[in-house]
Amino acid sequence: MTHRFPDNFLWGASISAHQTEGAYQSDGKGLSVQDTRQRDNHEIADFTVAVDHYHRYKEDIRLLAEMGIKIFRFSIAWTRIFPNGRGEVNEAGLQHYSDVIDELLKYNIQPYITLNHFDLPQALEEEGGWSARTTVDAFVTYAETVFSAYGDRAKNWLTINEPNIMLLVDKKILGKEIPLQEKYQQFHHLMIAEKYAFKRCHELIDDGKIGPVPNISLVYPATSKPLDNQAALYFNSVRNWAYLDFSCFGLYNAVFKDYLKRKNVKITFAPEDQELMENHFPDFVAMNFYTTVTVEKPTQKDGMANGISDQQSEDIMEWGFYKGFTNPYLQKNEFNWTIDPDGLKTTLQTLYDRYHLPIIITENGLGAKDELTEAGQVHDTYRINYLQQHIEQCQQAIEAGVDLIGYSPWSAIDLISVHEGISKRYGFIYVDRTEHDEKTLARHKKDSFYWYQSLIKTNQLPS
Ligand code: BG6
Repeated sequence: MTHRFPDNFLWGASISAHQTEGAYQSDGKGLSVQDTRQRDNHEIADFTVAVDHYHRYKEDIRLLAEMGIKIFRFSIAWTRIFPNGRGEVNEAGLQHYSDVIDELLKYNIQPYITLNHFDLPQALEEEGGWSARTTVDAFVTYAETVFSAYGDRAKNWLTINEPNIMLLVDKKILGKEIPLQEKYQQFHHLMIAEKYAFKRCHELIDDGKIGPVPNISLVYPATSKPLDNQAALYFNSVRNWAYLDFSCFGLYNAVFKDYLKRKNVKITFAPEDQELMENHFPDFVAMNFYTTVTVEKPTQKDGMANGISDQQSEDIMEWGFYKGFTNPYLQKNEFNWTIDPDGLKTTLQTLYDRYHLPIIITENGLGAKDELTEAGQVHDTYRINYLQQHIEQCQQAIEAGVDLIGYSPWSAIDLISVHEGISKRYGFIYVDRTEHDEKTLARHKKDSFYWYQSLIKTNQLPS
């Protein structure tokens, strides 16, 4: 039996600014923390040129229109609008995204715009970054500026990409470790900034809709031992629900509060925070999903070292709470990330039952080392298989009653992976460059491009 997706299902594709645009100092752009971050691994490409999407956005959008997408998720580089994070608006930067939006609308593609995707202005970082309350104020002005500039044409917005992963995997994403007390004060500021974004989007944009965009991976207990289940409860809260409970319910949940108490973390609230938390809510939840995580309760023999090294790996340890565990039932991709399509359905069901809001998947995909043939083709059957298995589970979730409104995989075109550079490719469109050789930057449609094009056209998975 074939199952069609709902007629208005939002098939899309996603990217972020710093991983694609390049042109890192063009037309008045300021530096962001991604331009300056210290890398563990200097072997990988930096973001100075990336895949040159800044100059080639028309070609990229034409190809994506040919693929048939209905929505395009991209982020605005804050440093193109305010080179120093605040102050005078850079008109050239403002014009750039206006042109991008017009180009999308020309093809009837709706923009889904992320306000900030890991690239905080460096000037704000130097004043304390998200630890400083003044960064919230600068973010609000930035958000108001882009809502006012583009809200007549762009109705759908995403707040701050994966604050949970940014804080948990700080070393890899931001290039430095944040002490725990500071980390959770940053959590509070990020989440308050998001509350302001909900408020101002609804006030400034007619029919404007906005949602949070965390990375959600359901956490499984390693065994049926009660204490392993408790470990999963805590990591589910710290990794997933603390963020969405703040966004959708306006509170710190009890498990997360207990975690903070036991870690001796104290959060400073500003006088307006409680009102903001309790009165401004999202219209939908956007969710990035790559895998699930499995944990057990640590024991004395594990030692007491704390740390998490990768968003998807088993390398997680917080003494007294949880420790990563290799799930023997799941396969891994070539970069050691577990693959769990069934877990996507369960994650969607759990999330929907918790928040009762429409859900859109804004990232899901397979990072792989693609090969370009001499004929300019890429036979990425492995990516097609991954996407097919996950989309099947989306369909099952819809049939099980989840209000899943769209699926926008990672990534539209090849980009610079956060952890592994350009060697780990995600796109439907191959970009001809290596880590240190920009080559031609020419675009080539992969086999997955044609597969996704056919799926969108028929609105169903091939039987
Ligand atoms: C998500 C991020 O966490 O994971 C993306 O939002 C990132 O920016 C994606 O590219 C995949 O991670 P990586 O490390 O393979 O690029």
